[in-house]
Amino acid sequence: MTRTLTLTRPDDFHLHLRDGAMLQGIAPESARDFARAIIMPNLVPPVVTGTQAAAYRTRIMEAIGEADFTPLMTLYLTEASDPADIIAAHKSGLITAVKLYPAGATTNSDAGVGSFEKVRATLDAMAEAGVPLCVHGEVTDPAVDIFDREAVFIDRVLDPIRRATPGLKVIMEHVTTADAVAYVQSTASGLAATITTHHLVINRNHILVGGIKPHYYCLPVAKRENHRLALVEAAVSGDPRFFLGTDSAPHSDDAKECACGCAGCFTATNTMPILAEVFERENALERLEPFVAHHGADFYALKRNAGTLVLERQDQPVTFPAKVDTGAGPVTVFDPGFAVHWRVAPTN
Ligand code: NCD
Ligand code: ZN
Repeated sequence: MTRTLTLTRPDDFHLHLRDGAMLQGIAPESARDFARAIIMPNLVPPVVTGTQAAAYRTRIMEAIGEADFTPLMTLYLTEASDPADIIAAHKSGLITAVKLYPAGATTNSDAGVGSFEKVRATLDAMAEAGVPLCVHGEVTDPAVDIFDREAVFIDRVLDPIRRATPGLKVIMEHVTTADAVAYVQSTASGLAATITTHHLVINRNHILVGGIKPHYYCLPVAKRENHRLALVEAAVSGDPRFFLGTDSAPHSDDAKECACGCAGCFTATNTMPILAEVFERENALERLEPFVAHHGADFYALKRNAGTLVLERQDQPVTFPAKVDTGAGPVTVFDPGFAVHWRVAPTN
């Protein structure tokens, strides 16, 4: 017998839609299941100004076509960002948040912030105006081991920023460690975290044991199993400070499968079925809807979506396309490595 689960239509609070041919190819993958997504601004060149965000939004809307999908735009914070431009873009409804990349932390982050003192005034102005800050939480200090960069970021950067600008609403994105989960849990207000689909599924062994798996390589890199378990526990806990941000980050196969492969897992195509499987295994299917559709909207002070998404459980494992073909080359769809029995019910 088919079991069904009807959810408020979900939102993705961290998504890379890219641009050009890649945008055309992958945008429908998110628009199919998600009502809205926070769109990352790490294009080349980055989306820094309100004018650039408006133009990017138009290109996204063209790629989406008739689908019922709203891109929630962000601006890329640089040391030269103009607070007045940020506040105006937020006030007009053009942008939903600002993104902080430490310079050099990840794909296309060279224009990010090197000295946090230099953005202090901008962060103060954002706090005053109620503009949320999305944070890529990794230090870039070459002396810090890549597996420790998130935990060190909390002590060296995130906690000091939050103490210096207490009114700032902060989203610690794609958390990967028990340390980040504990830090978020320790705060009374003003801080939440997104969790990706892939970090609920893989640990660092999946990347490295039995041959290197480039399609499991992303940033922040997956950590030890105890950290994955902490993320699963947080996701299924019902704690409203944790919600979905897939960080679906497509790169063409030739950019992933090479001597210096790009970071990013592409999960837009099968995120909802994988999450249903993960939550079912934890006996927490009733917590899936708040994780994907309530907590994020509430934290961002957005209205929850009106529509629904229906998931169906099949007796036999469901298959997904291995790749999405785009004009920028094929993109490999994330393989969770276990059988998935859920699918999104067709809408007609
Ligand atoms: C992202 C990308 O490819 O843009 N990559 C990733 O591994 N997540 C950048 C990012 O969010 O760190
Ligand atoms: Zn990302």
